[in-house]
Amino acid sequence: MYTLITGAGAGIGKALAMECASRKMNVLLVALEGPELETTITEIKLKYNAECHGLGIDLSHPESFCKVYKWVKENNFNINILINNVGVGSKGDFDHTKTFFYEKQLQLNIHTTTMLTHLFLNDLKANAPSHIMNTGSMGGFFIIPGKTVYAASKAYVYFFSKSLRLELKPHNVIVSVLCPGGTDSNENTIAINKELKGIAKYSILMPERVAKEAIDKMLTGKARIIPGTINKIYYHISRIIPEFIQQIFVYYAFRHVDKHKY
Ligand SMILES: NC(=O)c1ccc[n+]([C@@H]2O[C@H](COP(=O)([O-])OP(=O)(O)OC[C@H]3O[C@@H](n4cnc5c(N)ncnc54)[C@H](OP(=O)(O)O)[C@@H]3O)[C@@H](O)[C@H]2O)c1
Repeated sequence: MYTLITGAGAGIGKALAMECASRKMNVLLVALEGPELETTITEIKLKYNAECHGLGIDLSHPESFCKVYKWVKENNFNINILINNVGVGSKGDFDHTKTFFYEKQLQLNIHTTTMLTHLFLNDLKANAPSHIMNTGSMGGFFIIPGKTVYAASKAYVYFFSKSLRLELKPHNVIVSVLCPGGTDSNENTIAINKELKGIAKYSILMPERVAKEAIDKMLTGKARIIPGTINKIYYHISRIIPEFIQQIFVYYAFRHVDKHKY
């Protein structure tokens, strides 16, 4: 059996792949073609002696998800865990970002996640007990000016995952949604995270820490996975305070992030 992970060449996806391989799970990595994917595959094989294969593909291309499915089928990889992790963040006022970027962001954050889940569903049912884990974000719980499309796309991932979980329960396909807060996963996010204020600043985690908690909780069948104690507390408090107070906190956290710098 294999675990398929998208966006697995770097950042949280890479950490998830390393975490799975460290638990002797066979992993299939899907990411942009290039040295990062190749290096990750080599690292996993050397460090964990695990079975690891990769597909270099741009998942923002429409119907790329069909190519992923074809690759899995042609190679007779049998999957029982699907981790839809690929996604891109953004910041800046809605009208300051180019149309083509939103097309790509929605394709990666929403379309690819939905379509891969749909394509692999019969396999996951056949291989049950099985798991689907979709990477959402803490951002999906809040109204965040400057991250309008990103936050809305992650709210989609959250509700999609939670509804699907109920549908698939009788089939023993367990759906989880991973909702990380700020994670120092790449140069851009590290720079943005440095500018955060308030609770958000102290809640930043490393991808390895996020991945460990994510895989631990996914395997126990947890529905909503929020890595880190501060993030969990913040989430629960935010559910009981009025929206206008939430917005004050969000405004304060992101106030210093230069919208046009990165
Ligand atoms: N970092 C955070 O603070 C944070 C917080 C909450 C949620 N998240 C979510 O966590 C997930 C991972 O984020 P991250 O920060 O770890 O991202 P990242 O560091 O940018 O890594 C993204 C991975 O996805 C791959 N990728 C990017 N565009 C792709 C495309 N068009 N087709 C195929 N693969 C592509 C990259 O490939 P290459 O290696 O070739 O570049 C890389 O392996 C995303 O869904 C993100 O929204 C992140």
